[in-house]
Amino acid sequence: MIRLGVNIDHIASLRQARYRGTPTAAVPEPDPLTAARLCLEAGAHSLTVHLREDRRHIQDADVVKIADRFRARLNLEMAATPAMVELALKIRPAEVCLVPENRAEVTTEGGLDAVGQEKALQPVVQKLRAAGIRVSLFIDPDPQQVAAAALLAPVIELHTGSFADASEKERPPQLLRLEKASHQAHGLKLQVNAGHGLRLSNLPALLALPHLHTLNIGHSLVCHALTVGLGQSVRDFLRAIEKK
Ligand code: PXP
Repeated sequence: MIRLGVNIDHIASLRQARYRGTPTAAVPEPDPLTAARLCLEAGAHSLTVHLREDRRHIQDADVVKIADRFRARLNLEMAATPAMVELALKIRPAEVCLVPENRAEVTTEGGLDAVGQEKALQPVVQKLRAAGIRVSLFIDPDPQQVAAAALLAPVIELHTGSFADASEKERPPQLLRLEKASHQAHGLKLQVNAGHGLRLSNLPALLALPHLHTLNIGHSLVCHALTVGLGQSVRDFLRAIEKK
């Protein structure tokens, strides 16, 4: 069975769009902790939050609250910086997924360079693993990256962005890259997760990949929640107005 990890960053994006600068404890909605509970109650297997250097969506206080309630299901995405490592060691999520981070990017644009940064990543991964945290590396489906990742961590998350952005015509070669990477990783005894840009419309094609353990999905899942939930929200507000 393939597991679903829900990335709840964009619940916080919506809150920050209105309440940036207000302490999270004073802000009513939407609450990432409530979202986390709803996702798990609906059957999601894990939760992902990406604590970005610029704190544009999820805040430290959110991560602490979510970890207090759901530590065993929490995957913290973060850059491999000393400040983030220090935070992760305090929060102790079940998993950490190391991602590259570039302040100017709108979302995570490419995979981690496990080949070029092997020496820098090694002590970071060791510290996290010594604290009992399962470490994953977010990499592109590239054979050299998979081989380098296998020397560092027990889990990889394959970046599915190029597949998700590809036109119909370009999709088969992107799928093939992912398939080869997944086979290679499985042969190296790595757990294979995947994520980025996944939507209900491109999932069926992706599910052809072998050895998938967890799919981490965020933006489109939250968008879908708005679409399927908007009608109910309007009905609830109409009912409240009609009570007058
Ligand atoms: N996995 C990783 C490592 C990511 O950085 C992201 C985006 O934050 C996701 C999964 C989820 O991507 P999306 O929001 O496009 O579903």
